[in-house]
Amino acid sequence: MSGCNKVAEAGRRFFLGRGALAAAGAAAVAAAPAAPARAAPALAQVTYPRAKLANIRDLKPNEPLDIAYPDADSPGVLLKLGTRVEGGVGPDGDVVAYSTLCPHKGYPMFYRTDDRTLNCPGHYSRFDCEKGGLQIWGHATQNLAQYRLQVDGNGDIQAEGVDELIYGRHSNVL
Ligand code: FES
Repeated sequence: MSGCNKVAEAGRRFFLGRGALAAAGAAAVAAAPAAPARAAPALAQVTYPRAKLANIRDLKPNEPLDIAYPDADSPGVLLKLGTRVEGGVGPDGDVVAYSTLCPHKGYPMFYRTDDRTLNCPGHYSRFDCEKGGLQIWGHATQNLAQYRLQVDGNGDIQAEGVDELIYGRHSNVL
């Protein structure tokens, strides 16, 4: 056997020896009883305030009403779209509310009555208010934050939460 072959043979034996050790170790780990988990991770739950935004009587079809939720630093808009939409509340299923801070870089957005969209003057992102704030154009990388609403027996429109992160926040409720 040449010197070169001896070196190759030694390397093969070393490799096989290590492989056997690794297999034995894996078998020992597999045979060991599973240790019980010591701690369960806490759920990331946020409790939203319940806040009255307006009364149904305050709304006119396709006329935006400025609001703030979940606090005064979070501007939004309340809309009676005039057409029943997914997630809409009220007797006609057409009342929705959104944050008006653009999810891209937080510019304040404006409502366009002709196509029922919220529009950003910063870099021109656009969001469809009839489709849950779906982004239809621009730089933003998430849909618009929509408020969860309920209408009580008096016609008061109550906000109860938000479905996306509001721009500039690590948590919608700080
Ligand atoms: Fe709205 Fe950039 S801030 S698109």
